[in-house]
Amino acid sequence: MKKLLVLTVFIAFISISATNSVPPPNKHEYTNLKILPKDISDERMGMIMDAFKASLGVKCSFCHAVAADSSQGRHLDFASDAKEEKQIAREMMKMTASINANFFNFDHSTQPDTIHEVMCYTCHRGMAKPDKEALFPQLDSIMKANERH
Ligand code: HEC
Ligand code: HEC
Repeated sequence: MKKLLVLTVFIAFISISATNSVPPPNKHEYTNLKILPKDISDERMGMIMDAFKASLGVKCSFCHAVAADSSQGRHLDFASDAKEEKQIAREMMKMTASINANFFNFDHSTQPDTIHEVMCYTCHRGMAKPDKEALFPQLDSIMKANERH
C-alpha cells in the first residue's frame, strides 16, 4: 500500500515536471530553500514533501521544528533549520541527485536533474534509518567464508 503511494507520488511528480503547463500562482512564499528551485510551485513542493514523508515513514515534524509561538496550537515552522534531520535531508537530496546524474544517465541527458532512478525510497523503504542489520547474520557468514580462502 505504502509502495503504491510512493509510486503514485513519483509518477505524478515526474509527469508534472515533464509538462510545460503554467502552474497556478503560489499561495506561499518559500524563504529558506537551498537545494530546491526558489520559484518552485506549491503543487510540486507538496508532492516532494509528501514523498519524503512516505519514503521515510515519518511525519513532517521529523524534519521540521515546532514554531516558537505555538500558542494557537502546535504548528510547524517549515523555514526553520533548527532540526538536524532537515540538514541531513538536504545532504541526502544532494547525494541522491549526484548518484542519478553520475551513474544513471545512460541516455546522456543534458538535464540529469530529471533522472529519478534512485529515490529516497530506494534505500529507506519506509524507514527513517534504513535497516542495516537485517542482513547482518547472512553477510557475516559470507565474510567469514571469504576469509578462509
Ligand atoms: C525527511 C525530511 C523532511 C520531511 C519529512 C519533510 N520535509 Fe519539508 N523540507 C525538508 C528540507 C530539507 C527542506 C529544504 C529544502 C531546500 O533547502 O531546498 C524542506 C522545506 C520545506 C518547505 C519550505 C520552507 C521554506 O520557506 O523554505 C515547506 C513548506 C515544507 N518543507 C513542508 C513540508 C511538509 C508540509 C511536510 C510533511 C508533508 C514536510 N515538509 C516533510 C525536509 C523534509
Ligand atoms: C543510497 C541510499 C540512500 C538514499 C538514496 C537516501 N538515503 Fe537517507 N539515509 C541512508 C542511510 C544508510 C541512512 C542512515 C545512516 C545511519 O544509520 O545513521 C540515512 C539517513 C537519513 C536521515 C537521518 C535519519 C535519522 O534518523 O537520523 C534522513 C533525514 C534521510 N536519510 C533523508 C533522506 C532523504 C530525504 C532522501 C531522498 C532525497 C534520502 N535520505 C535518500 C541512505 C540513503
